[in-house]
Amino acid sequence: MADGHTEQGAAAAVDEGRLWGRLMALAAVGARPDGGVDRPALSMQDAQARSLVAGWARDLGFAVATDPIGNLFVRRAGRDPDAAPVLTGSHLDTQPMGGRFDGAYGVIAGLEALHAMNDAGISTRRPVELVAWTNEEGARFQPGCMGSAVFTGALALETALAAVDRDGMTAREALAAVLAGEPEMAIRPADAAVHAYVEAHIEQGPVLEEEGLPLGIVTGIQGCRWFAVEVTGEAAHAGTTPRARRRDAFMAAHAIVAELRRALEDEADVTRFTIGRFEVEPGSPNTVPARVFFTIDLRHPDAARLTDLGDRVAPLAGSAAGGCAVTVTQTSASAPVVFADPVLRVLRDAAVRCGVPFRDLPSGAGHDAGYLAAMAPTGMLFVPCAGGVSHHPAESAAPADLATGARVLAEGLVRLAE
Ligand code: GLV
Ligand code: MN
Ligand code: MN
Repeated sequence: MADGHTEQGAAAAVDEGRLWGRLMALAAVGARPDGGVDRPALSMQDAQARSLVAGWARDLGFAVATDPIGNLFVRRAGRDPDAAPVLTGSHLDTQPMGGRFDGAYGVIAGLEALHAMNDAGISTRRPVELVAWTNEEGARFQPGCMGSAVFTGALALETALAAVDRDGMTAREALAAVLAGEPEMAIRPADAAVHAYVEAHIEQGPVLEEEGLPLGIVTGIQGCRWFAVEVTGEAAHAGTTPRARRRDAFMAAHAIVAELRRALEDEADVTRFTIGRFEVEPGSPNTVPARVFFTIDLRHPDAARLTDLGDRVAPLAGSAAGGCAVTVTQTSASAPVVFADPVLRVLRDAAVRCGVPFRDLPSGAGHDAGYLAAMAPTGMLFVPCAGGVSHHPAESAAPADLATGARVLAEGLVRLAE
C-alpha cells in the first residue's frame, strides 16, 4: 500500500460511471412519477436507502454502524486506529417534492472517495468515515439537521426523539422501525471525536452554472430561524355570523402574514422569508376557521440582523392578530457559520492539484456542516446544478461535474487524514 501524500491516486481513481450509477440506484428509492424523489426522514424509503448504502459499504469491506439518533457511519480504517477520523457525508432524506441530488450526492460522493482510496491502494493515518445524517431536511420531523445537531451536542437526544410528525408518529417510533430492518447493525455512542468534516453538495443556486465553473468552495452558511405560529379564533356559521361577531383565525393569519412580509422583506432581497406550511381548521367551506397553524423560515447572513428580524416576529404577529389569540414559538435557530480556514485551504489546494477551476461562495441553504463546524474544522464543496433548481423534482446535475466534485473531495480527504 502506498501511504502519505498520494491523493492524486485517489482523485484519479474516482469513477464517474460508478458514482452516477449509485446515485440513480438511490434515486429509485422513493422515486416520484415526475422524476423527483420523496424519501421522508425515517420512512421505509429512508430505511431502504440506508440499507442500499450500507450494502455497498460492506461489499467494499468497510465497517458500518449507527448511533442513537440513527446517523449511519461507514468507516475506512486508518493506520492509527486511535486517531480521530476525518468525516464526510450528507443526508439521504429528501423534501416531499425533492430531487435526486440534494443530500444523496454528498453521501454517494463520499462513498466514491472511500472506494477510490481502496482502488488506488492508499492508506491514511486517520480513519476516513462516511456519514449519512438523520433528518437533515426537517420536512417530516422538526427541527432539521436533527442527526448532526444531536451528534454535536446542540440538541438533546430525548428532545429529538420526541418530535412528532403530522400523523402523530414520534421520531423515536419511526427510528425504531428503520433500525428493525438492520438488526445486526452495530450501535455506537451518540458522540465521537472528529478531526475534520467535509460535505459535498449541489449548489442549489445559480452562481456556478452562470459563471461556467465546475466547483465552489463554500465559505459559510447563512443563519436561519424557524417559528411555528398558532392563531386561535372561534368556529362559527359562515352564512349567519356577522363580521363584528367573528373571530376568524384565517383572516387574522392573513393580516399577520401581510404585516410580517411588509416588515421583513428588504429592498436588496437579502432576507429570506418563507411560509412553507399553512393549515386551516376545521377546514370546512362553511365554517369560520377556528385555528390556523403556519411555519416561518427566516434567513439572513448577518447574525445581528437575523436576531433583530426574528425578534420582531412575535410582536408583529400579536399586533396584527385583531380579536384572535396568537402564539409564536421558535422551533430552531442556527447562527450564520463561517467555515474553517485550514479546511478551506486544503480544499482549494486539492482543486488546484486536480486542475479544477473554482470560486469561493457562501451557502444560502442550510447543511449538517453548519452543526459540525462548532465541533471540528469544517468545509464544503459545491458542484453546479441545472438552473440552480433544488427542492424540486427537476433538480439535476451533470455526471461530469458530480465526478469532479468527488475527485476534489477524495483529494482533500486523503490530505486531511494524513
Ligand atoms: C435545507 O434543505 C435547508 O432548509 O436549507
Ligand atoms: Mn441538503
Ligand atoms: Mn434540502
